[in-house]
Amino acid sequence: MEPIISVKNVGMRFNLASEKVDNLKEYFIKLTKNSLKFEEFWALDDVSIDVMPGDFYGLVGLNGSGKSTLLKTIAGVLKPTKGSVTVRGTIAPLIELGAGFDMDLTARENIYLNGAVLGFSKKFMDEHFQEIVDFSELHNFLDVPLKNYSSGMVARIAFAIATVTDPDILIADEVLAVGDYTFQQKCEKRMKELIDNGTTVIFVSHSIEQVKSLCNKATWLEHGKVVMTGAAEEVCNEYMSRY
Ligand SMILES: Nc1ncnc2c1ncn2[C@@H]1O[C@H](COP(=O)(O)OP(=O)(O)OP(=O)(O)O)[C@@H](O)[C@H]1O
Ligand SMILES: [Mg+2]
Repeated sequence: MEPIISVKNVGMRFNLASEKVDNLKEYFIKLTKNSLKFEEFWALDDVSIDVMPGDFYGLVGLNGSGKSTLLKTIAGVLKPTKGSVTVRGTIAPLIELGAGFDMDLTARENIYLNGAVLGFSKKFMDEHFQEIVDFSELHNFLDVPLKNYSSGMVARIAFAIATVTDPDILIADEVLAVGDYTFQQKCEKRMKELIDNGTTVIFVSHSIEQVKSLCNKATWLEHGKVVMTGAAEEVCNEYMSRY
């Protein structure tokens, strides 16, 4: 079987300004003089992973280890500096909470907006609107601007929209972290249903117990490098024994 996601020797470099520039004028003066110093920083360094169809794939690692950056290269949001990413299927990305939302608009408006961002038609959204509202359980808040929502409420809507279809691949970056216990249970159940219907899930969580119980495979990242890839249980045990 061919991997549905194949990440080969991926490197992602960010340029960090290494000296402090106080204002825009100073910045442009230094820029034209070519005296602005950037420090190269590799957020991902020679990362390779293969995700097979039907995998529930976990990524673990400390803050700043490169998990979200890796997910962004898979989702096509970032182009890797080195290496290649091959994806065979449609992706529903849940990477940054609130990306694709306009906080000044109401939940109702945002459901349509985010649907459009994910490539769903108005007709499709009309047909699935109730299902999304039911899943997120926010019936009484539909006409409230999103800025007055709690982060957990925003997560509910984002998750409900992203999983309203059976995408080939669901990318879930810490989406469960802000939801309360009952919503986490609901999301876990929905992700298991998706897996049963053939969706592949990549899942990032700081709850190692969650990764252990949900995922079959996992990769542990540290400073942008792969420390270990294998059965989720083994990787999680190693990771926990380290920290
Ligand atoms: N656009 C960017 N420009 C510069 N540096 C970035 C950018 N995006 C991420 N980084 C850096 O890359 C590193 C990896 O970040 P990333 O968000 O992938 O970590 P993470 O593993 O998802 O961490 P967390 O567990 O906190 O979510 C960090 O040091 C971060 O500062
Ligand atoms: Mg992250």
